[in-house]
Amino acid sequence: MNLIKRNAEMKAFFDRKTEGYDDVHLALMNDKIAITTALPADICTVLDLGAGTGLELIPLFEKFPDVRVTAVDLSESMLGVLKTRPFADRVTCIAGDFFNTDFGGHYDAVISSAALHHFDPDNKRMLYRRIFEALRPGGIYLNSDRFYENIEDQEIDLVQYAEDPNRFPHMDTPLAMSVETALLKDIGFTDIAFDELDGRYFLNRAVKP
Ligand SMILES: C[S@@+](CC[C@H](N)C(=O)[O-])C[C@H]1O[C@@H](n2cnc3c(N)ncnc32)[C@H](O)[C@@H]1O
Repeated sequence: MNLIKRNAEMKAFFDRKTEGYDDVHLALMNDKIAITTALPADICTVLDLGAGTGLELIPLFEKFPDVRVTAVDLSESMLGVLKTRPFADRVTCIAGDFFNTDFGGHYDAVISSAALHHFDPDNKRMLYRRIFEALRPGGIYLNSDRFYENIEDQEIDLVQYAEDPNRFPHMDTPLAMSVETALLKDIGFTDIAFDELDGRYFLNRAVKP
């Protein structure tokens, strides 16, 4: 997958979508609240990949008011909304690509919400290495997102993405849970699990030993 092209499409898409984004996505807070619920009680530092307007940080700061967050996003306009939130003084915003931005430290947790379902297994492996490096030993990775139950569905999307020149540029290409698990294990993560809500798997968790 050509990441430079993919990320340019992504940035343009979210720059256009910023206005009105919260109106749609505030209705989908359960998936974001689940990240906060799954975090250990003693976290102090969090890296949020694809933080956007920071919706997942609303429940996070309600429960952990003193936490320090680094928020990475390609779209300056999405981050512009995050910067207006009441907790913005505790967030360092980085306008950049999470495939090559310096994350600047070792975090207690790396979280992501609805931002990582666009990448093929090779790209994901690259990203998971970066996440592993960004965590302190014992740190946790939590990704609230979409996952397929089987590889056949994953492959249909990836082939369509690669072959269809008329595809919707922002097309979702989630991976299967077994593929996600193998990638994370390969890099060294342990305690890998998925949470289920209303019959679908949505929260991937993994620990750096
Ligand atoms: C659907 S939004 C999710 C925003 C927020 N996390 C939420 O749950 O409401 C996906 C976000 O990921 C960002 N994004 C996608 N690919 C990225 C990349 N390679 N590097 C940094 N941000 C990226 C987009 O700009 C967008 O703001």
